[in-house]
Amino acid sequence: MAHIGTLRTLVLIVMSCWIQAGSGGGCPPLECWFVREKPGEGLKHERTLLHVRTSPDSRSEETLAEPSSSSSSSSSSSSSSSDVVPDRVYHVTDGSASLLHPSLHPPQGSLVKPQCELHPFLPQPADVQWAASLTDSALSPAHLQADWLSATILGLDGGLALSTVARAATATIHPHVVLSVLTETVSVRCGLGEPVLLDCRFWADPSSPLSAGGFAVEWRYQFRGQGRLVLAYDGKTDRLAPGPQEGAALDFAGLHAAGNASLVLQEAEARHSGTYVCAVHLPHLLAQVTVELEVVEPPSLSISPSPLPLAAPGQVLSVRCEASGFTPLPLELSWEFLGADGAPAALGEASLSGHREAWDGTYSQSSLLQLDTSALGRGGGLVCVARHRGGTRRSKVALEVIGFSTPSIQDSMAMVGMALLLSGIITLAFWNITGDLTLSGHEQAPATPPPDL
Ligand SMILES: *[C@@H]1O[C@H](CO)[C@@H](O)[C@H](O)[C@H]1NC(C)=O
Ligand SMILES: *[C@@H]1O[C@H](CO)[C@@H](O)[C@H](O)[C@H]1NC(C)=O
Repeated sequence: MAHIGTLRTLVLIVMSCWIQAGSGGGCPPLECWFVREKPGEGLKHERTLLHVRTSPDSRSEETLAEPSSSSSSSSSSSSSSSDVVPDRVYHVTDGSASLLHPSLHPPQGSLVKPQCELHPFLPQPADVQWAASLTDSALSPAHLQADWLSATILGLDGGLALSTVARAATATIHPHVVLSVLTETVSVRCGLGEPVLLDCRFWADPSSPLSAGGFAVEWRYQFRGQGRLVLAYDGKTDRLAPGPQEGAALDFAGLHAAGNASLVLQEAEARHSGTYVCAVHLPHLLAQVTVELEVVEPPSLSISPSPLPLAAPGQVLSVRCEASGFTPLPLELSWEFLGADGAPAALGEASLSGHREAWDGTYSQSSLLQLDTSALGRGGGLVCVARHRGGTRRSKVALEVIGFSTPSIQDSMAMVGMALLLSGIITLAFWNITGDLTLSGHEQAPATPPPDL
């Protein structure tokens, strides 16, 4: 009940954000850091507030002249905005509405906040070949003469990564988003061989002269300092850069119609794990988001020899457990033993091999156990246990110890019990005999106690 209640409140907040945003009211402002290089001072971080609306509103434009008063009146968290200098309170028009995404607007009083950074942005022709066609035609440099900002935002719970480029007339605090790139799959985990969708969408302001100049999309892969191009597409000339990664695809219709630049990997391989950068170029502009892909596969186990040979008591058997086809490292291998009666028994140390990488990028590793059967009674089940990020796997073989001579604890207990029972019967029988004897001898005399055994 309470859960549904909070959910509804959240939905209402978001809804009201959306509705009011269109009319210039809207969500509480987005808190950001404005980061820039100051000569002699290094990087400087200034607190910044972004008031977001989806379309420019004439009424709120009037407050343009008094940015400080407008910030305190329209901000619902005026206490936190008091330490923000007026020219760091922006009124952003975002036609894509992505700055109003629910994961950027936590419920009021929430301690976790989205991470947001603003940087000054310098428009320039793309330095990659597949985006070169975008700046073929001479563009009105006057349009580029403005204050350009880029915002990089990470939403709550990894629900969104967003990168936008916005243009404000020089020395104003009213930027308009021109390019916005986002992903809702900030971190993706999948199993080997599964199809993967790495979400990436972009929006280009149709009223900007830049968006008429075409776009280019580029997916790059990065892992441990190595990078490569997965796929690049020039949307202006409708050309795919040569040598896209095998099994990687874009939905070109969706890309042109709705800015859906999502990358589809047909079958996840171990070597696909890593960071993917989705970069979208407009003429002179670039925005990009990153998606983390982790391919996780637990090992398959095999024990050898299997089945185990019959063992003589005290014999030491070498048993190997091979774990293969897993990714990523590390793996923890251990052994367990369950006696025939279900009771666990301790085993000696096993030695773990180094890992080997297979042709498909998965790993294998094995554990060698010297199995001393002397303490294992008649045998039981020997289990190899592999603990991995992808789950725990077990494999079991039966151990049978033949010619088993030394009694187990249970056997000894049974023997003691049997002995007690026998001695009881003997005592009773003896008593009967002696009783019978005494009874027949002296009619009145009470039965004599049994003789001590
Ligand atoms: C984008 O395209 C992919 C691949 O065709 C599709 O699976 C996905 O649902 C699309 N995303 C949206 C938001 O339409
Ligand atoms: C003891 O004697 C009675 C009768 O005298 C007999 O019924 C009983 O079976 C005897 N018990 C044993 C253990 O011999």
